Amino acid sequence: MILVTGASGTVGRHVMQLLQQSGHRARAMVRARPGRTMPPGVDVVQADFEDLASLRRAVADVRAVFLLTAPDTPTPDHDMALLAVARAAGVSSVVKLSAIGTGERFGTATVGAWHHMAEDAVRASGLTWTILRPSSFASNCLYWADAIRAGQPVPNLTGDGEQGVIDPRDIAAVAVAALTDPAHAGKTYTLTGPELLSLPDQANQLAEAIGRPVVTVDVPPASAPQQLLASGMPPAAVEATVIGTAWARAGHNRILTDDVATVLARPPAAFRDWARRHREAFTGAP
Ligand SMILES: NC(=O)c1ccc[n+]([C@@H]2O[C@H](COP(=O)([O-])OP(=O)(O)OC[C@H]3O[C@@H](n4cnc5c(N)ncnc54)[C@H](OP(=O)(O)O)[C@@H]3O)[C@@H](O)[C@H]2O)c1
Repeated sequence: MILVTGASGTVGRHVMQLLQQSGHRARAMVRARPGRTMPPGVDVVQADFEDLASLRRAVADVRAVFLLTAPDTPTPDHDMALLAVARAAGVSSVVKLSAIGTGERFGTATVGAWHHMAEDAVRASGLTWTILRPSSFASNCLYWADAIRAGQPVPNLTGDGEQGVIDPRDIAAVAVAALTDPAHAGKTYTLTGPELLSLPDQANQLAEAIGRPVVTVDVPPASAPQQLLASGMPPAAVEATVIGTAWARAGHNRILTDDVATVLARPPAAFRDWARRHREAFTGAP
């Protein structure tokens, strides 16, 4: 049995799907929510990183864990809680979703400080581990959908900083490889798409895919916290996002790797293909 945390989220949903398609037994960990339903036939456990008893239920009879902790609570505590119950329950391996730039110093800040502490805990856990450090997700631009449908500009927090934007489905495919093949034990993979794109480059490719203009408006670092707070982001997540986007704006995520191709034996998907697959979200038309 493989436990998938964050199973209702962007990457976890694909991890569940790919594990099921390849015939592996997988359990989706989700929080209890009124009215929540999961697809029929999915083995679901209701658990919360804040509730140790529920985590113990989640890891019962589990061999491997896909460990995804959410950015709205940027703390290593969630990773550490899961690692503790997993070790006690005899889980043998963990695949942790981290982030590109983790642990790098940027001025007085540490990029991805919470992921850095969590990565250290994973490496020291005694479990067999693989760490995935993806670049910026293609799916981040789903946040623009309302603005684009309303014909409004979309905010650009990263300026001309280019990133190896990655399709979340490729991150999930690498996670599944790591969960099911011991050859990936002890590896830290930096996962990128096939080309470097600035946010205006992404806007242009998206505009091409949906047949509508996508205009970006620069949000300078000094105004970023205010804008993110106004969008409803929790303050702790705002701080982490401001550090991460300033890091990207300065060009430090200008990185492409072969890790996706090496693990999957095929090239990573292009952003323009992701955009074509998701055009409905931006236009309302299939
Ligand atoms: N976006 C990017 O560009 C990017 C780049 C690099 C790395 N990352 C990393 O990727 C991760 C986010 O992945 P994602 O976008 O797939 O996540 P997501 O779509 O934001 O989903 C978050 C998931 O976490 C679950 N969750 C939240 N709080 C929880 C709690 N207290 N207990 C149990 N489950 C909880 C949610 O479950 P419920 O539905 O049950 O609430 C949901 O399934 C973060 O660690 C982030 O740092 C993101």
